Amino acid sequence: MTKIKIALVGVGNCASALIQGIQFYKEIDKNEDALGLRHLYLGGYHPRDIEFVCAFDIEERKVGKDLSKAMFSPPNNTLKFADVPQLNVPVLKGPVLDGVGEYLKEIVKISPSLDSDVTQELRDRKAEIVINLLPSGATKASRVYAQHALQAGCAFINATPNLIAGDAAWNKRFEDADLPLVGDDLMDQVGATVLHKTLLKLLSDRGVKISETYQLDVGGGTESLDTLERTRDVKRAMKTKSVETTLPYKASIVAGSTDYVDFLENRRDSFFWIQGLYFGRVPMRLDMRLGTVDAPNAGSVLLDVIRATKIAMDRRVSGALLSASAYAFKHPPQLLPLDVAERWFEEFISDKRER
Ligand SMILES: NC(=O)c1ccc[n+]([C@@H]2O[C@H](COP(=O)([O-])OP(=O)(O)OC[C@H]3O[C@@H](n4cnc5c(N)ncnc54)[C@H](O)[C@@H]3O)[C@@H](O)[C@H]2O)c1
Repeated sequence: MTKIKIALVGVGNCASALIQGIQFYKEIDKNEDALGLRHLYLGGYHPRDIEFVCAFDIEERKVGKDLSKAMFSPPNNTLKFADVPQLNVPVLKGPVLDGVGEYLKEIVKISPSLDSDVTQELRDRKAEIVINLLPSGATKASRVYAQHALQAGCAFINATPNLIAGDAAWNKRFEDADLPLVGDDLMDQVGATVLHKTLLKLLSDRGVKISETYQLDVGGGTESLDTLERTRDVKRAMKTKSVETTLPYKASIVAGSTDYVDFLENRRDSFFWIQGLYFGRVPMRLDMRLGTVDAPNAGSVLLDVIRATKIAMDRRVSGALLSASAYAFKHPPQLLPLDVAERWFEEFISDKRER
């Protein structure tokens, strides 16, 4: 297969897990050996077909380094599960804009290097797909990088909760430029949203009338701190809306507030509370905690989305990719029940669905 040429925007924890994952699965050829990965091959593409051509960040300890070193530099604090050799991929200085919120100013050191010409770098390095892994509060910066992707002729994957794939105007721009657009707000492999939705569907399918439910998180990555300051409300609204679609009736639902506990590092604890009535209107309660490491939870999903985006480019599909967005994101342009989103995605991969 041809290589899938990726430009990373933000070399944080999520980027680190993605790069480590590609190393981890590189030599594996049999499905049964690909533990933890949903698709070893997708539309013929293997994770080893993904190649990073450049990366942008603003952190002093990352800019100017090879990607293989920058990804393990502080304040990144996710788990190391794979050795990464020298990649010969430079981390270039991007425009800071609103990339560093008030709470992060104590932790993130801004590099004094000059900003690079992002569009030109993307063109020169022949990037095909730009992945936006900026902090969730970087609204303006996310849009600026999306514009650079457009100018350079790259597809755009928006892992942040900033509204881009879900915005009709951005959709039209990517469609006019013959480029795919995917997003918004990546949904983890075994994250709180997918688990919460699955639990509610299971209980509701089995006749339970759910009256109240909440799902709250605590984490210790820089993203959790940024969320606390800048995107708590947005994320809560998106997650709550996503969870609400699971139940065929109205219930009191709160999903997705995050708090910050520094010593957790990149670990995340997700708490679930569900209350309802079952046979004979007898009450039932579920009280549960899920413990994960945040960044690797995005890895398998990102590998699927990258390959789906490349498949769209191969087929010259442009504008919002509805199937990949509904399958892998919490706030896609068209929100679908989980099972329908899975089916649409598989149909898209096997060329039975256009987008
Ligand atoms: N499981 C997951 O990790 C997961 C799941 C869903 C969504 N997401 C989203 O992915 C994004 C990244 O998450 P993360 O945990 O890697 O965050 P992070 O804070 O670890 O990384 C963000 C990176 O962006 C860099 N940055 C800040 N401003 C910049 C700018 N203007 N230009 C270039 N780089 C800049 C930071 O220096 C840092 O390296 C977040 O928006 C998050 O909501 C992550």
